[in-house]
Amino acid sequence: MVHRRPLIAGNWKMFKTCPEAVETAKQLLKRVAKTTDVDIMIAPPFTALAQVSDVVKGTCISVGAQNLFWEAEGAYTGEISSSMLVSAGCRYVIVGHSERRQYFNETDESVNWKLKSSLKNGLIPVMCVGESEKEREAEETFSVLDKQVKNGLEDFSADDLKVLVVAYEPVWAIGTGKTATAEQAQEVHEFLRAMLEKKFGNTLAKTTRILYGGSVKPNNIAELMSMPDVDGALVGGASLDPETFSKIIQFQNRT
Ligand code: 13P
Repeated sequence: MVHRRPLIAGNWKMFKTCPEAVETAKQLLKRVAKTTDVDIMIAPPFTALAQVSDVVKGTCISVGAQNLFWEAEGAYTGEISSSMLVSAGCRYVIVGHSERRQYFNETDESVNWKLKSSLKNGLIPVMCVGESEKEREAEETFSVLDKQVKNGLEDFSADDLKVLVVAYEPVWAIGTGKTATAEQAQEVHEFLRAMLEKKFGNTLAKTTRILYGGSVKPNNIAELMSMPDVDGALVGGASLDPETFSKIIQFQNRT
C-alpha cells in the first residue's frame, strides 16, 4: 500500500492583518514545532505572506497563497502571479476555492490556467472541488465533480501532476458547522481517486493527496482521517486560532 503523507492546511481567508497573522503563525509554531508525521500549510492573506514566511522559514510549517493570476506579469491591476508568490515564500497555492467560484467568477477554465501557471513555477496547487447543497439534493454530486476535475485538469499528463493536491469541499459544509460524515467524505474521495486513475493511471491516483474541507474541527478530524482515501484537511474557521488548529494537526495523538 502506498503511504500518502497527511497534509493539514489552514485557509485563513480574508482574516488577519499583518501583525495578527505574524502572531498567529508564531503561536502555532510554538505548538507544532516538533511535528514530523504530517505536512502543515497555512494560507494567510496576500498582504501577510512574506512576513509569515519569515516566521516559519526552515520549520515544519509551509506557507500557501489563497489564489493567483495565471499570467507571468503585465498590466493586470490588482493581480498576483505565481513567481511573485514564490518570491514571497510560498510553497503552495489554493486554486478554485468555492468562494472564488461563487463570488469572483472563477471557472473550471480559469482553474486550469491557474494550475498550469502554479505548476510551471514550482508551486504545489491545492485544487478545490465540491458540490452545492442544491446539487447534492438533486443527486448531481458526482456529475458536478466529474466536470470540475475533467475540465480543471484538461491538457495535463500524469507527469505534470505529480505534486497536485485535490481538496474536496462540499459547499454546504463550508462555515456551516455541517460536516460531511466520514462516510460521505470517503465515498466522494474514492470517486475522485477513481477518476484520477481513469484519466492519469494508477500511480498518480495512488499518490495524490485528497483533502477534505468543510467545518473540520478538533472533534471530527480523527474520524475523517481514519477513512482510507482522506489524506488530510483544508481547514477554514478552525485554523484561525493556533490552539484549535494545533489540535487538528495533532489528531493522531487524540485517537
Ligand atoms: P470552514 O472550515 O470554516 O468550514 O471552511 C472550509 C474551507 O472553506 C477551507 O478552505
